[in-house]
This record gives sequence, C-alpha cells and structure tokens, in this order.
Amino acid sequence: MGSTLIRGGTVVNADAAVRADVLVRDGVVAALGDGAGWAADEVVEATGRLVLPGGIDVHTHLEYPIDGFTTRTADDFHSGTAAAAHGGTTTVVDFVKKEPGASLRDSYLRRRDVAAAKSFVDFGLHAIVPPRDQQEDVLDDLRLLAGEGATSWKFFMAYPGTQMVDDGQLLEGFELAAEYGVLPMVHAENGHMVERETRRLVGSGRVSESFHALAHGHDSEAEAVHRAVVLAESAGTPLYVVHVSSARAAEEIGAARAGGARVWGETCPQYLAVAYEDYAGLGERAAAYVCSPPIRERANQEGLWRALQTGALSTVATDHAGFCMEQPDDLPPQKLRSPGYFPKVPNGVPGVEDRLMVLWETGVRTGRIDMCRFVDLVATRPAKLFGLFPRKGLVAAGADADLVVWDPEADHVITAAGSHLRTDYNLYEGMRVTGRPVHVFSRGHHLVNDGALEGGPGRGAFLTRGAPHLF
Ligand code: URP
Ligand code: ZN
Ligand code: ZN
Ligand code: ZN
Repeated sequence: MGSTLIRGGTVVNADAAVRADVLVRDGVVAALGDGAGWAADEVVEATGRLVLPGGIDVHTHLEYPIDGFTTRTADDFHSGTAAAAHGGTTTVVDFVKKEPGASLRDSYLRRRDVAAAKSFVDFGLHAIVPPRDQQEDVLDDLRLLAGEGATSWKFFMAYPGTQMVDDGQLLEGFELAAEYGVLPMVHAENGHMVERETRRLVGSGRVSESFHALAHGHDSEAEAVHRAVVLAESAGTPLYVVHVSSARAAEEIGAARAGGARVWGETCPQYLAVAYEDYAGLGERAAAYVCSPPIRERANQEGLWRALQTGALSTVATDHAGFCMEQPDDLPPQKLRSPGYFPKVPNGVPGVEDRLMVLWETGVRTGRIDMCRFVDLVATRPAKLFGLFPRKGLVAAGADADLVVWDPEADHVITAAGSHLRTDYNLYEGMRVTGRPVHVFSRGHHLVNDGALEGGPGRGAFLTRGAPHLF
C-alpha cells in the first residue's frame, strides 16, 4: 500500500487541536508534525481544513430483521456503509440478533460473513441477548462471543414477548458481563408501561402515527434507565445506555455518574435536531419519524444538549434503522405497511450518513460544544467504550489511518436525493449545513475523494474488538 501526505491541516483530537501534517503509510498514521521534508505517493492539500479521526457509529441496524423477522431495514451493509463513508464514518458497530432455528453464535458467524462481503468500512457486531425462552443455553454462547470480538451485549428492556428480558435475566447477564469484561448495553424503556399506554391509546381510538410518541413516555424511559443502573451496580458491571431520548433519562445517568456509577449514555442526532412538533401534524407521513424511544417535544432538546455539555451523556450514535416510505418490490413491508395505526409502524429512522454534519451544524456551529468535544462524542469515546482504542478513535502515530479531512467552510444541503442510502427519505431534508467531509480515508485507503467513493464493497474488515477502556 502506498503513502499519503495530508498537508496543512489542523488535527483535531478529543484533547487538543494542533496544526500538523499527517503522513500515512501502510494503512496507519506514520507521523504527525512538520512534514516539510516528507515525501509521499499522494499529497492531499488540507490548508484551512481539519483532520479528524474517522467517525465511529456504534449503533446501526443494517439489513436488520424486526418484528419476528417479518420485515427488515432497507439499507444493507453495502448501501449503509457506503453512505456512512460519504458522511465521514469509517467504522460502524451493528448488531446481531438470534435467528429463528439458529443459535446466537451461529447467527453471529453468519452475519459477520454477510457484512464482510458487502462493507466499505470496518465494522463490528454487538450481540443482542435473546430472552431465555428463545435459547436456553445463551450464556454459553455469550461466553464464546466475548472471545470472538463481541465485547458488548445488548439487552432489551422493551418489546415484551419478543425481545424484552426480565430483571432476573438482566442481573444474570450483567454478572456474566462483569466476569468477562464485556460492556452491557440496554435499550431502556419499561416495556410494560409502553404496552399499557399503547392499549389505552388504541382503546380510545388514538391510533394515528404520531400517537406513538405518547405511548413511549418520559417516565417509562427514566424508570428503565434508573433500574438498569441499579441492577448494573448490584452486579458489579459498567453499563452503556443506548439512544437516550428523554432529558429526564439523561438526568438519571448524570446523577448516577455524579455518584460514581460507571454508566455511559448515548444520544442520537434525531433527538437533538428533530422534534415531535415537526411530525405531529403529518398524519400517515409521521411514520417516517417513528422510532423507539420516540423523537420528543422540542422543549426536551435543551436538556439533552446540557447533558452532552456536562458529561451526563458521552456519545452520539445514530441508531440508524432506515425503512422506506414508498414500498419497493424487493423489500418486505416498510413504513406504511399498516397506515393509520401506530402500533404496526416499523420502528426506526435513518441517519448514518448525516450524523457528523448534523451534530457539527447544531452543536459546534451554535457554540454548544467545541470541536474537541465533537470528536470525543463521535469517535474517541465510542472507540474506548467498544474496545477499539487506541487502534481507532484518534489521530496519532500508530493508529489506523481512518481519517476525515473536514472542510468547516463548505456549505451543503441535506436531502434524500443527494444521499447514498437506500432509504427514500431524510429526516433532515432541506437542512443547510456548513462543514462537511471532503476526503475520507479507511486504513490509509482514500475511500471518499471529493464526493466520489473509491473502493469496492468487501474492503471493510470485521473488527475483533477487545475489552472496553473505561477512562
Ligand atoms: O426504533 C428503533 N430504535 N429501532 C431500532 C431497534 C432498536 O430498538 O434499537
Ligand atoms: Zn433500541
Ligand atoms: Zn437501535
Ligand atoms: Zn477543546
């Protein structure tokens, strides 16, 4: 593999931003500093631009089966990782769910191979822990998976009857995670509370799409976060809470952290930059916004920003789970499979391509966070928590040359038509942003060059992740 000199830029890491040339050789960063005397096969001019570590999106659902495998998300590892690359994300960590008739571990090995054949960027897989009645010996599989790179396990506290695990199984799984040095993750919503609210809404005829948000109250999220933190402390494990949407839930995490609990929270761009008010009046079209936990009222957003500022929340990932609004012939039923009835809308929204631009625009450009904090939220902290640091998540000699040359002056309008996803709509349609990736490198390979994707599917590598770095 050749060498590349990225010249004249400002290197931004989570701890500092410094003027430095970057020499890339054999897929890794070979040197940082004054490159006046350095020679390379390719020179990329970065004067006036920033050099960031590639984005790490630790929460995606590509070609992901839902609702008992009756449908799946629209983007596969091909379109999803191509779009990720265009948006400056060079690593995704997706999920494996136990397939019917197969063990969790067999499902993991199969999904790893499927993704490896299609991915443009490096990827890992979190293991979703199925309820005990779906696989009795699942703890045996989890022990094996911990040694095979799945050093994070996700537990659902929502979706009773299909995915929800009870407190007994949470405690047992958390204890095993503590023993094996694995980071447990929770989808924190009280599934029984959501089910009860859903029944009440349906019973009174309030079934159109936007009622989804009312079924998933702040209280059900805050309760589940609180319970998960208590159970994790009791089992002696650190904990990661995915997709925190409610400012109340974020406050639960902040309070726990202030008390010394080893808990980290993630939020997503859709909770920061989109609001219930944006879709409440859209009728069936509100299906485009349906995800769990829901996109909440605008007044909730400031609390999430505050949590990102104080450190109550630690990462921004997408929970990318894109479904189409128009039904394609080659996909199972998508967003409008049961129009006018919120309980049947597939849950999930797209965003893997937009994450960095949306957070830059709404966070850095508004002065809510600085660019070092931005890097920490989208790359460094995710790399640490999910066993990829210091190979990834920073720009430093010896690290993978997963790099983004970011133009902080470039204007762009986000649209579905201009995106690289299979999903046929964009939550941020029409948003004007200033600041976008212009070059993206994946292990030294010039993957996106001024908007053009260079490199085939299948060059992304499966990442056998190590133990979490909890500092
Ligand atoms: O609505 C969502 N978030 N769908 C994806 C699956 C999950 O719960 O994370
Ligand atoms: Zn979830
Ligand atoms: Zn998710
Ligand atoms: Zn700073």
